Amino acid sequence: MDIKEFSKPSRRRVILGIETSCDETGVALLRWEPDAPGRGLLAHTLYSQIKLHAAYGGVVPELASRDHVRKLLPLIREALAEAGLTVQDLGGVAYTAGPGLVGALLVGASAGRAMAWALGVPAIGVHHMEGHLLAPLLEDDPPQPPFVALLVSGGHSMLVEVKAIGDYVILGDTLDDAAGEAFDKTAKMMGLPYPGGPELARLAEQGRAGAFRFSRPMTDRPGLDFSFSGLKTQVLLAWKASDHSTQTRADIARAFEEAVVDTLIIKCRRALQASGARRLVIAGGVGANRRLRSELAAAAAKDGFQVYFPRLDFCTDNGAMIALAGAIRLAGGQQQGDSVDVHPRWDLQSLPAA
Ligand code: KG4
Ligand code: ZN
Repeated sequence: MDIKEFSKPSRRRVILGIETSCDETGVALLRWEPDAPGRGLLAHTLYSQIKLHAAYGGVVPELASRDHVRKLLPLIREALAEAGLTVQDLGGVAYTAGPGLVGALLVGASAGRAMAWALGVPAIGVHHMEGHLLAPLLEDDPPQPPFVALLVSGGHSMLVEVKAIGDYVILGDTLDDAAGEAFDKTAKMMGLPYPGGPELARLAEQGRAGAFRFSRPMTDRPGLDFSFSGLKTQVLLAWKASDHSTQTRADIARAFEEAVVDTLIIKCRRALQASGARRLVIAGGVGANRRLRSELAAAAAKDGFQVYFPRLDFCTDNGAMIALAGAIRLAGGQQQGDSVDVHPRWDLQSLPAA
């Protein structure tokens, strides 16, 4: 299909989005509605590999790739059935091309590129973090650029200035562990099952205020970078010296969560100040954290900025955000060549304007 066809009002504006960068197979079907992208979401399915990797305490890349091979096509069939469509209705295919695990990325990219080729429709490789950045656009009353985005996932802690879609400036990045990784590793240290982040957050709700206190890393100096590995060590020392009771574990979890959340909020405020933006978008798996959500809402009310959270399903990895980012780029006339290209490492700032 000619790329110009894509912007015509027809069923063929439906984009298939495929996410396979890590341990979640995500598939979505999105009909392109430029003014209200969320309204075009026709189907959204996800298969999480959490159970598969739990025994190993972390993601095993080869097992992840093999499981994506097993699950991807059934999920695509399921999404099409849910939307009452067939592959013939597709107007384009978007897949995550990076960053991520190379084998896992190749599964989605090969399937997506091959389908697009067979159907004669355009394909587009999407940057996973751009997917996270744009996920809030799927909600009602979406934020308009310019805005600042806090991307906090298992692999990233980043503050990004979104000047326009495709025009990104990284204001701060992680120097070691990402926020989600710090949650997961801290949880593991205290004997919680993988993936520990949500588990640790649940436990923190039972923790007592003030029982422990950890430092807010790198907030005593200017700059917007993050470092959470020292905090992890503080928790390890506190845990080793403790009585290992259930209450102590919850108290430590609470103090850890407070330290991470405070640190993120201090840096968000600084980023808003530095960029002059008045809108803050939260994205990535740690965006599901309740304390982060409520304290950011309080900070926004106090400082007079607006904060946007995608719904929990769209904070963690999903196919809808990939369909959306892909649809925006396809609508702007971009598309992939015939080769299957993935980029396990990929600088967000190198993306072209959308
Ligand atoms: O965005 P995501 O699904 O995957 C990556 O691209 O990394 O994020 C997953 C991360 C994991 O580290 C997980 O522990 C963390 O998000 N996470 C949470 C919560 N829910 C998920 N961290 C803190 N509190 C939560 N409620
Ligand atoms: Zn992610």
